[in-house]
Amino acid sequence: MGKTIIISNRLPVSIQKKEDGLSYTPSAGGLATGLGSIYKSGDNVWLGWPGLYVTNENEKEEITSNLKNENMAPVFLTKEEIEKFYEGFSNTTLWPLFHYFPSYTSFDEGYWETYKFVNQIFCEETLKYAHNDDIIWIHDYQLLLLPNMIREKLPNASIGFFQHIPFPSFEIFRNLPWRKELLEGMLGSDLIGFHTYDDVRHFLSSVNRLVGLDNKMGELRVEERICMVDSFPMGIDYSKFDMAARSENTIKEIASYGEFLGNTKTIVSIDRLDYSKGIPDRLLAFDLFLENYPDYKGQVTLLMIVVPSRDQVDLYKQLKVEIDELVGRINGKHGKIDWTPIRYFYRSFPFTSLSAMYRLSDIALVTPLRDGMNLVCKEFIASKIDQTGVLILSEMAGAAKELSDALIINPNNLPEMADAIYKALIMPEEEQIRRMDELQSVVKRYDIHNWVQLFMRSLDVVKEKQYEMS
Ligand code: UDP
Ligand code: G6P
Repeated sequence: MGKTIIISNRLPVSIQKKEDGLSYTPSAGGLATGLGSIYKSGDNVWLGWPGLYVTNENEKEEITSNLKNENMAPVFLTKEEIEKFYEGFSNTTLWPLFHYFPSYTSFDEGYWETYKFVNQIFCEETLKYAHNDDIIWIHDYQLLLLPNMIREKLPNASIGFFQHIPFPSFEIFRNLPWRKELLEGMLGSDLIGFHTYDDVRHFLSSVNRLVGLDNKMGELRVEERICMVDSFPMGIDYSKFDMAARSENTIKEIASYGEFLGNTKTIVSIDRLDYSKGIPDRLLAFDLFLENYPDYKGQVTLLMIVVPSRDQVDLYKQLKVEIDELVGRINGKHGKIDWTPIRYFYRSFPFTSLSAMYRLSDIALVTPLRDGMNLVCKEFIASKIDQTGVLILSEMAGAAKELSDALIINPNNLPEMADAIYKALIMPEEEQIRRMDELQSVVKRYDIHNWVQLFMRSLDVVKEKQYEMS
């Protein structure tokens, strides 16, 4: 058996230029954190974009050699490629459309041409490492064309593809002028995975209508080759979060937060800055909660972390302004000298701080308008070591399919969200523990290791079937 090659647009580290040289930080985002513990063994390698624009050849060499020590290899992109492939087709075409925001979607021929071109660059980079007996695991919507590009060069390789964002219904997907090419790109895989069964259904329906292929229990025949489509709900590294929550460092950090949170109940909210996350509606729901339940003024704090993301894309810039204004307005309206309703941070935090925030919070408010999975809610669950605490979760997150013991809400229904906050605050401790116990057993059982094993085993099964047929 050969090695495993993981390919994603973003590497699990982001590199930034600082005055004193290059700095390497772990990337935010479920994909990076989720697979972080997997790729480092043997001569496995993770290929991807290092997250910055580099022109200087010496700098490129420095990055390449530093990453090599960590089993990673960079795919460098030019300024134009970053604009048209990453900010453009990936995040102004596919991201909004796949998250059910057709009116935010731009259809630009130039973006599409660059998307094809950059997928080809990823293919060439992969071929420097890959052989026919390797396992190649491609991740996410930025690389939909890559499976078939690699298949054409390495017909016998095991190629798995996992999409971390939703696959929309056919009525949404059909809007794309390049819909058939994208599906054909994905169908170069032996195994295609999504987080939920709904995504699988939507994908198979689009394949049926646009490519004309029927499936039997998720199995497709693509030119005599089997291609399997299935759901694999992604988990987290449960024991990492559980252990961190018990650690001395986390306990120290919690003590230091006590100073500014006082004795108030804490609601935690953590996301990348993204319109799919429903942040403005969440703020409006908190505002409504304070209006409807004024006794809680001074008693509850919303601890809101917004991690900068895709800040060169217009819609993200506008959203930042909208959130800043809303936070200012709500704090101005309800705040008191000794109480700030929303503690708002626009930056990322190190792991220990996140662990402390999860552990100390009484409620997690996770209300995306649409989310492939959402790992933050699973991280909150794993960090609640005394089993108290309540998760309020949007039905539009993939995670809601597994986490039925959360308080499930519709993120467009502000009164329902405001009432859910109240319900969570008055929930008796026995009920909190009963629900958390159920939630923890689900998140613990289906952790990241189980996810990787299931995906890899299914890829093996497809290859065996193909072998028996040949
Ligand atoms: N996260 C992080 N730094 C932060 C805040 C969050 O690395 O300051 C991580 C968080 O722990 C989680 C991920 O970012 O693992 C977000 O994943 P999720 O699936 O919730 O959303 P995505 O960003 O992938 O859409
Ligand atoms: C989501 C996507 C990932 C992406 C991450 C961060 O988790 O599924 O593919 O890497 O967001 O977004 P960014 O654009 O910064 O890579």
